[in-house]
Amino acid sequence: MKKKRPTILVTGSKGQVGMELQTLANQFPDFDFIFVDIEELDITDPAAVKAFFAENQVNYCINCAAYTAVDKAETETNLAWKVNTVGPENLALACANTKALILQLSTDYVYHTQVTKPYIETDFTNPQGTYARTKLNGDEVVLRNHPGGAMVVRTSWVYSSFGNNFVKTMLRLGAEKRSCP
Ligand SMILES: NC(=O)c1ccc[n+]([C@@H]2O[C@H](COP(=O)([O-])OP(=O)(O)OC[C@H]3O[C@@H](n4cnc5c(N)ncnc54)[C@H](OP(=O)(O)O)[C@@H]3O)[C@@H](O)[C@H]2O)c1
Repeated sequence: MKKKRPTILVTGSKGQVGMELQTLANQFPDFDFIFVDIEELDITDPAAVKAFFAENQVNYCINCAAYTAVDKAETETNLAWKVNTVGPENLALACANTKALILQLSTDYVYHTQVTKPYIETDFTNPQGTYARTKLNGDEVVLRNHPGGAMVVRTSWVYSSFGNNFVKTMLRLGAEKRSCP
């Protein structure tokens, strides 16, 4: 039987990063991709995640699913915790069980320190607010539940042609507003 190509599962695939990965996928013909968002796979549902991994070949998981509304997270604490901490834990456990590797996307908000140099992995974390705390917890549960098979990428602002972001806001304001005298 012909061996299937390694398969990359991308969760949260309708978000900014997920959509960009969808546009890039055809540049990687040696891999199959499965793109899912909450309608196809709710990462906060442990039974659904387990069943998904039982039914599909997954060799790598890129977790782009997240609760990213930083301000709203203060009033939707439970939802933020479920999506940013429980969801990654479910994925990490499923990956560990099936020997898949997981890449967890995270944020520099976990640091919140006044440094004038680029952060390194071992820097002190000091999350302020629900979003940052739930993301840090997500990083920790992923690394703890899949030692040796997990990687966490803590990025800063994400710019993309999809969704709302800082660059788009600046372009819009630049077009709408008069320039400074
Ligand atoms: N955006 C930034 O500037 C920024 C900066 C630093 C780090 N990051 C990190 O980078 C990663 C990707 O960010 P992004 O901007 O691409 O996020 P995003 O645009 O908010 O996309 C997240 C996606 O996850 C989906 N989702 C929410 N709950 C889910 C669930 N229970 N199960 C499955 N999918 C779910 C969302 O659906 P709904 O839209 O329907 O909720 C959305 O499609 C995140 O881990 C984020 O923390 C982002």
